[in-house]
Amino acid sequence: MTLRVGQDRLRLRPWGSDARTGMLILLTSGRAASDAAVAASVESAATQGYLRIRTSAVSLIEAEPFLRAGFEPGEQLALLCRPIKPRLPQQSNALAIRRARRRHQNSVLALDQAAFEPFWWLGKTGLREALRAAPFRRFRIAYQPSGEATAGYAISGRSGPAGYLQRLAISPRQQGRGVGTALVIDSLRWMARWGTAQAWVNTPHSNTAALALYERLGFDQVAPGLQVLEMDLAV
Ligand SMILES: CC(C)(COP(=O)(O)OP(=O)(O)OC[C@H]1O[C@@H](n2cnc3c(N)ncnc32)[C@H](O)[C@@H]1OP(=O)(O)O)[C@@H](O)C(=O)NCCC(=O)NCCS
Repeated sequence: MTLRVGQDRLRLRPWGSDARTGMLILLTSGRAASDAAVAASVESAATQGYLRIRTSAVSLIEAEPFLRAGFEPGEQLALLCRPIKPRLPQQSNALAIRRARRRHQNSVLALDQAAFEPFWWLGKTGLREALRAAPFRRFRIAYQPSGEATAGYAISGRSGPAGYLQRLAISPRQQGRGVGTALVIDSLRWMARWGTAQAWVNTPHSNTAALALYERLGFDQVAPGLQVLEMDLAV
């Protein structure tokens, strides 16, 4: 459901891997929601029977009204940015990268569950939202030339001068073979073709494999990063 309070719009829906936790997504991002909007969201989550409520990744400014309302900091995320110009890494031709279709949804979701801990599972709703998050998107699947099994997938979005690498997951058996690198380069080259100025990505500070991959491909961390905030409603 979408909550509208004054100028603020927030979406409340179940967290990917836990139906008793509500996920609160700021639809008017980049500025703080009002205290009234946060209070209305908490009340709505409690009325709907959620035991806990958790935000999507928010910036320090976006976090303020939630902290005032009693939310506590949870996962800390690194935010990384890379200028698209001047030099983009060369793509290797060792992998096939193809457009993902509706029929790939189940294999993409299975791969997502195998690659991430349950906390970060995308789920059907999360996949649909990721595909609608930006005005323009690219949804690609990578295959090893030797087989048709899905090796990895990436979802990217563009909105004006900003490009977002929104989701990247490689099948555990295929990790460390350059699939993640190839999908990130594919995304950067797509952004470059459309005149995007910077690419953005975030990942938990604890995800050292992803941080190493992004930094090797020219991303730099932008302090202070992002955070997920949560509040227990069961007390
Ligand atoms: C993080 C993740 C996306 C990395 O993808 P990946 O396909 O394993 O990454 P790559 O193989 O391209 O690169 C990983 C390492 O393998 C090395 N590598 C690249 N190509 C290689 C090849 N052909 N053979 C051997 N090693 C290779 C790279 O140099 C890199 O080394 P580094 O650790 O020094 O950076 C993947 O581990 C994953 O899906 N993890 C779980 C989900 C996740 O965390 N997603 C990102 C969240 S934002």
